[in-house]
Amino acid sequence: MATFGELSVPRDWEAFYSTGGTIGKDPVFVVRHYAHLLPPGPFLDLAGGTGRNALFVAQSGREVLLLERSRAAVAAARAAAGGLPLTARVWDLEKGLPEGLAGFAGVLMSYYVQRSLLSHFPALLVNGGLALVEGFGRAEAKRRGRAGSPHYWEEGELLLPPLGMRLLAGGEGAWGGRWRQWAVWQKAP
Ligand SMILES: C[S@@+](CC[C@H](N)C(=O)[O-])C[C@H]1O[C@@H](n2cnc3c(N)ncnc32)[C@H](O)[C@@H]1O
Repeated sequence: MATFGELSVPRDWEAFYSTGGTIGKDPVFVVRHYAHLLPPGPFLDLAGGTGRNALFVAQSGREVLLLERSRAAVAAARAAAGGLPLTARVWDLEKGLPEGLAGFAGVLMSYYVQRSLLSHFPALLVNGGLALVEGFGRAEAKRRGRAGSPHYWEEGELLLPPLGMRLLAGGEGAWGGRWRQWAVWQKAP
């Protein structure tokens, strides 16, 4: 069984999940350390995979919507949700966001890089709502021989929030043997 942390990023996620691939069950750093600062309200997990972060947030009783392109991952997230308030929906974010999404207390983009979505965060969030972002950085791309890949955050990139958001916290560094970046942005009230 493949494990995400031991692999370079799989290109065919459906095949990865369908053959028992896993990216683990523990929520990521930015969720573990900052989800408790979310104001009341629902949470949106973009490209949420099998739900390691969404499940953690839903365990506090918060409504969570997980959008994810892989049907196998969505099926796994639904199966794991049990009675938790987690809705997992198959959705290709390269088409953009589903219409009418708004009013979220938080939005998460974890180990998925789609820069075109960042400018939509203020419209998704309530005033004071948080965007949590974490992923691999350019140094990790170089280490993997993918120096030119756009699927990695540039050095310092997450310290510059999109218009309408302000930086609450952020950083970068190596843990788990990988170079990572993370940030917490807040929709300015
Ligand atoms: C590295 S995994 C991260 C999953 C999850 N965010 C986490 O941290 O556990 C990247 C995820 O992005 C999903 N993904 C890739 N392209 C996508 C797209 N266009 N729309 C929605 N999800 C996508 C993959 O299926 C995969 O589950």
